[in-house]
Amino acid sequence: MPHKITFFPNRKTVTAPDNQTVLKAAGGAGIHINATCGGKGNCGKCRVVIKEGAVKHKETGLLSEKDMAEGVRLACMSIPASDLTVEIPLGSQMRRGGKIATGSKLGELQKMVAKTCEGEPRPLTRKVFLKLPHPNLDDNISDVERLKRELDRRGYPIDNIHINLAIIRKIGRVMREKDWMVTATLLPVGNVVEIMDVQPGDTTKPRYGAAVDVGTTSLVVYVVDMFTGKVVDMESTYNPQVRCGEDIISRIVYATEMGGLDELQKLVIEAVNGLIEKIAARKGLDPEAVDTLVISGNTTMVHLFYGIDPSHIREEPYIPTATFLPLMRTHALGLRINDFGVIYAMPSVASYVGGDITSGILASRIYKKHELSLFIDIGTNGEIVVGNSDWMVTAACSAGPAFEGGGVKYGMRAMDGAIEKVAIDPATFEAKSAVIGNVQPIGICGSGMIDAVAEMFLTGVIDQRGKINLDCGTPRVRSGEDGPEYVLAWAAETGTGKDITLTEPDIDNIVRTKGAIYAGFATLLKEVGFGFADVEKVYIAGGFGNYLDVERAITIGLLPDLPVERFEFLGNTSIMGAYMALMSKNLRKDVEDIARRMTYMELSVSRSFMDEYVSALFLPHTNSDAFPTVERMRKVL
Ligand code: FES
Repeated sequence: MPHKITFFPNRKTVTAPDNQTVLKAAGGAGIHINATCGGKGNCGKCRVVIKEGAVKHKETGLLSEKDMAEGVRLACMSIPASDLTVEIPLGSQMRRGGKIATGSKLGELQKMVAKTCEGEPRPLTRKVFLKLPHPNLDDNISDVERLKRELDRRGYPIDNIHINLAIIRKIGRVMREKDWMVTATLLPVGNVVEIMDVQPGDTTKPRYGAAVDVGTTSLVVYVVDMFTGKVVDMESTYNPQVRCGEDIISRIVYATEMGGLDELQKLVIEAVNGLIEKIAARKGLDPEAVDTLVISGNTTMVHLFYGIDPSHIREEPYIPTATFLPLMRTHALGLRINDFGVIYAMPSVASYVGGDITSGILASRIYKKHELSLFIDIGTNGEIVVGNSDWMVTAACSAGPAFEGGGVKYGMRAMDGAIEKVAIDPATFEAKSAVIGNVQPIGICGSGMIDAVAEMFLTGVIDQRGKINLDCGTPRVRSGEDGPEYVLAWAAETGTGKDITLTEPDIDNIVRTKGAIYAGFATLLKEVGFGFADVEKVYIAGGFGNYLDVERAITIGLLPDLPVERFEFLGNTSIMGAYMALMSKNLRKDVEDIARRMTYMELSVSRSFMDEYVSALFLPHTNSDAFPTVERMRKVL
């Protein structure tokens, strides 16, 4: 029997079909509950409190007796047995107001794009206004031939023009509607020109395109004026697919083993439609005037965007269905922009090095520079590129979800309520923290974790192995239910009314994550015969990189011990690359060359990677000589 569920604090009531979990019912109503594992009952992040009514709850061992007595249940393991009133506690809410990186240095980027376009944007399609001669008894060729003849006069050879049935069906009406004046939208592919659309009158202006970053966690859209090349406006939101699993692997599992491919595709397409419509409404423009879309995302996100089965991405030998996707009409994917619009996807290199990384290389311009550069994008996967204008090597290391909140008791993404900075007094071991949104803390995000572990290490709260020293003589260090832990914030100061701690297993997960990323850098450099000292520039991309404290990241051994001037934060290079490709034919060619030229290394089978990884499971590293700055800091403290 269907049951009604009322969610608080959202005050929304939904009717859940028979056997639907509370997590799914919430998602269907647009209420986002944290679900790191995608509803498999592994992560314990989807805790809710059943205030009224009863549920059938599958036991997972993740809830204590006290939790159960207080009505706490996992939303993904709970099926309503009656009408329910459900409270979503702060720690389980996915709240807006987080830090979604929408890109940086927009002014500079616009100038660079304008330069590569040599003053004239070169979108994927061209719009040509035509005044057709009126037909008469002497000039009585068909409507289609009349259009082709006029295009031939404009330099598009008649034999190379293709027109499809949908256009032929409407062309008779369109030509007569505005006295034989029409605008043809043309898509040149090699030496063939396809007529994508024919509209009555002069519709060459205004014209817009959209660049879209399809991130695992967030979506960013730029709407761009295709004549000036300027970004009209931008919007961002969380990728609603997160409720089906936070990381790539849980999304693939959801798409394949749980039959959720269609659902995942619809969720992302609808979200992108929503963002474009929001910008259109704000700027008073017609979404119909948006006729080109460029998307950039990791290989899995692109597969899901197009509704392509991603299952082989996670099975050895990790083969994606496609790295280069053909140009496609937007309406085929359910995008509500111009019906005859086209979509271009930034090309991928391999299953775990996607279009977001080729975008990043395009935006960083590494492929044009002689200096040896390291490009990194830190997320659940750490993607790395080493190279210069002559060669580029790339790899991805499965870093694990710790920096995005997974596998860390009070871990969360960088959104309101997340501790993002931590300082520990070396004399008293007291902690001070900064919280995103200046609200009471409810958890800790990646940059906060790096700060906390670095401070705990420098002050001696933890040792090189990440083990907590229980003899510090401060009440902040204690034995908790998961073993030794450090209290970052006391219950009275938090938004959840509970102490926020960093436990020894949390630290272990953080060390493993940083170890995998560092080992990735080291292995890739070694394979090409270089060391860290040879690296002249380190470009850090991705939203997480924006809030990273380089010195603290070096302290824990996440980043190599290089002078801080060599590090440069680029912001969201995925959206930057999509924007560049939207505007410039040359840059589209460049990014396709980048994807073809990059040599991909599979680290998961590399013996050398495993050795490097084991060496990196210490703070900052087994080889402390590689981190002289950290050694100096430890001596000072
Ligand atoms: S335990 Fe419910 S989503 Fe992970």
